[in-house]
Amino acid sequence: MTDHVLAATDKGVQTLTLNRPDKKNALTAAMYGALADGLERAERDASIRVTLIRANGDAFTAGNDLADFAAAGATPVDRQPDEKPHVTRFLENLATAEKPLIAAVNGLAVGVGVTMLLHCDLVYAGEAATFQMPFVNLGLVPEAGSTLLLPRLVGMQKAADLFLTGKKIDAARAEALGLIAEVFPDASLQTEALARAEALAAKAPNAVRLTKALLRGEDRGAVLARQKKEGADFANQLRSAEVKEAISAFFEKRAPDFSKLG
Ligand code: COA
Repeated sequence: MTDHVLAATDKGVQTLTLNRPDKKNALTAAMYGALADGLERAERDASIRVTLIRANGDAFTAGNDLADFAAAGATPVDRQPDEKPHVTRFLENLATAEKPLIAAVNGLAVGVGVTMLLHCDLVYAGEAATFQMPFVNLGLVPEAGSTLLLPRLVGMQKAADLFLTGKKIDAARAEALGLIAEVFPDASLQTEALARAEALAAKAPNAVRLTKALLRGEDRGAVLARQKKEGADFANQLRSAEVKEAISAFFEKRAPDFSKLG
């Protein structure tokens, strides 16, 4: 159990709130576990029609906790050897969810904070939201099936631009690219997102589920297969000197030096 993810259900909407604002909602293994549990709960609980992922504080999420990444390079941090890691369970649950997922992005979204959005059926953002996938800058590769989903959504050039440069884009650009459905003033984002989640939760549930399956169902196998491939590269890179240097540099607040690696 962690209080870094808060779960509550009302009017058919399960709200999963990232609640680690002092660390920009960076995701720990325990938080992935709570998110994965929430997605599983949604699938089996008939009273949940929609899941809304949102965050407390001024950030959506700064992505995976970098201290966990550093530790994972040495030993698995979140599980017994025979268990599936929480992060894997979360990413698979995103890809296989049959009920709608909505996200409200209130501030910065980094790494998995962006790739998880590719699985959300509706993504709303505040004007201050930013989106960045600095996997390569950290010596890593993208995950969550994003190397399959992002090029399909925005085209290969735009996807490569985001992945290889790790550049940050704002909400207006994200909307223009098709990453998000709608941008709201920051002050009204949460109200607007919840209102839309409640409206969707009130619609005919089978029609909603079937429509989601028609939109995404055929791709599920391919997305899961890509997650597995990305996961293998990711795990190898986590143990690499490239990641060690990148993460040391982050915590030492200096630029990484990859000039002697490779
Ligand atoms: N993992 C662990 N801790 C993180 C974190 C992360 N991904 N992102 C932020 N934090 C922590 C910082 O270490 C800091 O902790 P401290 O107050 O104990 O020093 C706190 O959250 C606030 O972050 P800070 O860097 O001071 O805020 P900022 O507004 O200057 O910058 C970011 C915010 C997100 C741009 C910056 O923290 C960052 O680049 N984080 C790493 C993002 C990342 O690479 N994620 C992985 C993607 S694959």
